Amino acid sequence: MKVVHTVEELRDQLRGQNRTAFVPTMGNLHDGHLALMKMAHQYGDPVVASIFVNRLQFGPNEDFDKYPRTLEQDIDKLQRQNHVYVLFAPNERELYPEPQNYRVNPPHDLGDILEGEFRPGFFVGVSTVVLKLFSCVQPKVAVFGKKDYQQLMIVRNMCRQFALPTEIVPHETVRETDGLAMSSRNRYLNEAERQEAPRMARLLNRVRERIRGGEHDLAGIEHDAQRELAAAGWQVDYISVRRQRDLKAPDAGQVQAGEPLVVLAAARLGATRLIDNLEIQSS
Ligand code: PAF
Repeated sequence: MKVVHTVEELRDQLRGQNRTAFVPTMGNLHDGHLALMKMAHQYGDPVVASIFVNRLQFGPNEDFDKYPRTLEQDIDKLQRQNHVYVLFAPNERELYPEPQNYRVNPPHDLGDILEGEFRPGFFVGVSTVVLKLFSCVQPKVAVFGKKDYQQLMIVRNMCRQFALPTEIVPHETVRETDGLAMSSRNRYLNEAERQEAPRMARLLNRVRERIRGGEHDLAGIEHDAQRELAAAGWQVDYISVRRQRDLKAPDAGQVQAGEPLVVLAAARLGATRLIDNLEIQSS
């Protein structure tokens, strides 16, 4: 695997390639990331991964400074897995050489809801860096995890709006054996919090079972789930059932037959903010 730090070196490595598969990351790689690399390997060749902790997507009170930066261990993991041909690990000057004037603004009805409501500017930061990384790598396909469900939708939407020639391939959320969705932020959890953390996934499963079981009152279902998380000591940002196609609430807050849904959650456990979601095929 080649490790490159500049756009010029990256372009040198990729000259003449037109089937590149790309996995953008912020590093601190875990098995979830490695699963994305494996999938990328099935969809294109060569596989390019990036590691860049993107300041633009962190709010002023978020964890940019303490976000784990583990480049040596990450390189080691990728080398052992042997799917990635080039790792692009630029510094901030390389990726944002000029004062950061240009921004990609996702549409409000997609970018300012759910995560966007609680993390203002987050999806502007994500969209801007993803567009920039796509412009550097020029991938034919790019793999994104479904754990960041709204991010996946926004990146897809951006590709459509800007007619980018990159196909976005989703990967199922990779989970620990107790159901906790893998995330670099899980490492912030202390032992007691780590024991408690799978409750979120269990609750999402319960929401799904209730809907599949024929319950229609989404507000009641969401309320029960929020109450249970709060009672267990979580600070809940949202637990919300939305339509898969546009992340809007289903009409009149009722399950419509056949409408594919997704339940999304974000809550803080101690100082750590966790997100998760589960797709639901209503009958
Ligand atoms: O999902 C992430 O790790 C980041 O949001 C991404 C897509 C690498 C952009 O910084």
